[in-house]
Amino acid sequence: MRTHFCGLIDAALIGQTVTLCGWADVARNMGQIVFIDLRDHEGIVQIVAEPADEEGNAAMLAMAEKVGYEDCLRVTGTVRHRQSVNDRIRTGQVEVVATGIELLNKAEPLPFHHHENPGEDIRLKYRYLDLRSPEMQRKLRTRTRLVSALRHYLDARGFQDIETPILTKATPEGARDFLVPARMHPGEFYALPQSPQLFKQILMMAGFDRYYQIARCFRDEALRADRQLEFTQLDMEFAWVAERDVQDLTEDMVRHVFREVVGEELAAPFPRMSWAEAMRRYGSDKPDLRIALELVDVADAVKDCEFAVFTGAANDPHGRVAALRIPGGASLSRKQIDEYAAHAAKFGAKGLAYAKIDETGAVNSPVAKFFAEGRFQALLAQVGAQNGDIVFFGAGAYNKVSDFMGAVRLKAGKDFNLVADGWAPLWVTDFPMFEWDEEAGRYVALHHPFTAPAVDSIDDLRANARSAVSRGYDMVLNGNEIGGGSIRIHSSQMQSAVFDLLGIGADEQRAKFGFLLDALKYGAPPHGGIAFGIDRIAALMAGCESIRDVIAFPKTTGAQCLMTDAPSPIADAQLAEVHVQVRTKD
Ligand code: AMO
Ligand code: AMP
Repeated sequence: MRTHFCGLIDAALIGQTVTLCGWADVARNMGQIVFIDLRDHEGIVQIVAEPADEEGNAAMLAMAEKVGYEDCLRVTGTVRHRQSVNDRIRTGQVEVVATGIELLNKAEPLPFHHHENPGEDIRLKYRYLDLRSPEMQRKLRTRTRLVSALRHYLDARGFQDIETPILTKATPEGARDFLVPARMHPGEFYALPQSPQLFKQILMMAGFDRYYQIARCFRDEALRADRQLEFTQLDMEFAWVAERDVQDLTEDMVRHVFREVVGEELAAPFPRMSWAEAMRRYGSDKPDLRIALELVDVADAVKDCEFAVFTGAANDPHGRVAALRIPGGASLSRKQIDEYAAHAAKFGAKGLAYAKIDETGAVNSPVAKFFAEGRFQALLAQVGAQNGDIVFFGAGAYNKVSDFMGAVRLKAGKDFNLVADGWAPLWVTDFPMFEWDEEAGRYVALHHPFTAPAVDSIDDLRANARSAVSRGYDMVLNGNEIGGGSIRIHSSQMQSAVFDLLGIGADEQRAKFGFLLDALKYGAPPHGGIAFGIDRIAALMAGCESIRDVIAFPKTTGAQCLMTDAPSPIADAQLAEVHVQVRTKD
């Protein structure tokens, strides 16, 4: 149908006849002359329909005058220099003088045009119109190039791409499963994979040595800017490795793809930080190191004051009192300080004490009165507070204070323009093996239950479960967890001991993970791996706030596809076939 792409017409083609297909991005009727911006996936070129002597041209001009937004056209014409050069588009030096215009498909009036800035709901309902925009085309292309660069890198290094089942048995990654009723087994269900975790481990036991897969994962959890119900991992596993083998290769791979896809150079080597240090200094297990602000522990300086909230936390071994100094923060109004407190409350804070130090050095703080003469000044001095600053204080349980003060740090970083340009990658290591779940009265795994503990023996693990560190690691970039992995347990007894500690009894172990416990017995090599969030990396590369922008057909935060209207009710007959009866909420 066509000889060239619109967006690739350039001065080398001047004088030549070309045939192009595309959408009418804009049509401007100037009376005796019509300009049409013709757009395809490569970009836009200007078409000119102008009167000439021949009969045929009159009909063409009449046709051009009727062209509307997003009509599908086929245009034949001659490339020539453009009189008024447009530097904003790649083809801005040239234009195509039409000799023929064919209307392939007329577009009805549009619900919106991508030149406008419509709300996300309408964009998602008419996603095909939204995706036509050059901006969305660019974002999706960045994703394509990322995946292609990853594949090239791994193919060249002997990784084998192996598919694993989508209809499978539950693999716990900390979210709810999506279930699929098994028609041929009444009352039984498949689960969609939360990750290919167990299959990739079994592949190592099956002799494949290095595996990767661009794998779709399914997790029934709350959606956010960086979370979807289904998302894509670059999933990897290696046999005969320790932490550094996995980390060194994948770090090099991530540097490689950033160079290839967006021409950016990431630090070499990536900095490394233990989980404990990340929580202490940044209040986060995925610290954004572009922001220079750090939390300071001040329990010692407050443990004798009169404010019970501070002293309670300061004297509790699982408590924390942390301060965050924000240079220039004294400019915050009362209302803005309240907004910080409301933000902290979303992360579990019961309050957010502060001290404003104005330009003259006068201190304004609701908690200063609880301190003996000079002690509050000493506290502020410990934090390094200067005139013009604000200091926020958080007190309570260690992890909770870290979380909400970490959130305050991120907000301050944005509000005060303290986020440096560039890329800040790091490895976070030495995660706790378990977290104690007060409500359930048992341990839960911080990574997944197949992560090896950094202990010498099962007895050692049992004796020190609460303080045990795992052999897990996360890769973090600009405050986003872009990858997570670990060295795995490769002994059946250790795997069983970890299940025990997680409150999974012997029968449940057999029923859920018998195949794994068996496979581990027949010569399972030491192995480990990692999985990267492709959507998150693509969003970072393309400069998007949300991963929805690098997913062609994402779900809303309400877990719906607005284009297809999924999920939707199913007729009784179809439900009966799969032996399912719907319970109405009571
Ligand atoms: P994990 O659960 O950390 O590890 O997932 C790995 C990476 O996948 C991305 N990710 C997500 N992206 C979008 N939406 C989601 N809902 C979502 N959940 C996770 C993140 C994350 O770092 N099997 C292990 C990996 C391993 O141990 O090898 C796993 O799935 O970028
Ligand atoms: P109150 O005496 O309860 O009004 O609290 C005095 C100040 O301490 C207020 O600014 C509260 O926001 C703050 N505050 C209360 N609880 C905490 C907490 N857990 N951590 C930090 N500040 C708090």
